[in-house]
Amino acid sequence: MRQITVTEHLLVHQKASAMATGRFTRLLNELILAAKIISREVNKAGLVDVLGFTGEVNVQGEQVKKLDEYANRVIIHRMERAGVLCAMASEENADLIEIPAKFGQGDYILIFDPLDGSSNIDVNVSIGTIFSIYRRKDGTRPVVLSDVLQKGAEQVAAGYFIYGSSTMMVYTTGNGVHGFTLDPSVGEFLLSHPDIKIPEQGKIYSINESYWHYWDEPTKQVVSYFKSPENEIKRPYSLRYIGSLVADFHRNLLYGGIFMYPADSRDPKKPSGKLRLLCEANPMAFIAEQAGGMAIDGQRRILDIEPQELHQRVPLFVGSKKDVQKVADIYKCST
Ligand code: AHG
Ligand code: MN
Ligand code: MN
Repeated sequence: MRQITVTEHLLVHQKASAMATGRFTRLLNELILAAKIISREVNKAGLVDVLGFTGEVNVQGEQVKKLDEYANRVIIHRMERAGVLCAMASEENADLIEIPAKFGQGDYILIFDPLDGSSNIDVNVSIGTIFSIYRRKDGTRPVVLSDVLQKGAEQVAAGYFIYGSSTMMVYTTGNGVHGFTLDPSVGEFLLSHPDIKIPEQGKIYSINESYWHYWDEPTKQVVSYFKSPENEIKRPYSLRYIGSLVADFHRNLLYGGIFMYPADSRDPKKPSGKLRLLCEANPMAFIAEQAGGMAIDGQRRILDIEPQELHQRVPLFVGSKKDVQKVADIYKCST
């Protein structure tokens, strides 16, 4: 069988799209190279001295692991030199990352979570990199924060790399969702999952249920529904929770199911849950919708939320259409 590389796939799709300038392909190719470098480091994480906490905290007030920093540095280093971006934003940086003028600028904006699921690094469990790409609306002046705070529906592309039993890239440019698996022997991502569609209804629910006591009543009702033998599928959904959004989302995308990270009352500073709208919820929502699924915050479509700040957090319910619709119904009935 003829193997299609991600670059060939991009070129074919680019010809058929408005992004046929070559610049978008350049952007993705640079990102792919960064991910290959991260993947290599992740694979030898047990061998070299990159394990463990650095002792520092990131802008979210969480402890940063060395590989997070490394992944962040690799992406910034490669992408600022690509000549196609006007700004970047990373989960690990408090502010916008400007592109030095000497490297040349373009119209694209890259938002990313360099290493997602980092609590799993030390125990050899899948982690990932998430990305979201926008285009600036006004190219006549230097980019400012409001250029970056676009709603998710404006994304021109989104995707993730998963460093699991194999390394995969899954992405969308609004033309379906496509998955590629890295063949380490040739160093190429090969098309392995063309036009992914998420099952309309799943059998899996994914949530950190230990926060039960901090949830509001509708959230408890939602989770009780999925556990109930009397639900729509007439048996309890299976609970699967890895603790890496990328890995939990990826499994549910292929098998069907729902991932939930609701609001809770644990930390008054984070009343909207833990996940970040720009670098986590929006890209996953775009992929889910393109695969035939849904993503909401309980009340609204994730992709319709107007962001107010770079590190805004949002409750997230994402996955199979019928399962997410069920959540929407329960919230509507109880509010
Ligand atoms: P990150 O490693 O980028 O900080 O993201 C961690 C996230 C996400 O991957 C996962 O879904 C969630 O944290 C797990 O949080 P809990 O431990 O609260 O369940
Ligand atoms: Mn993350
Ligand atoms: Mn992260």
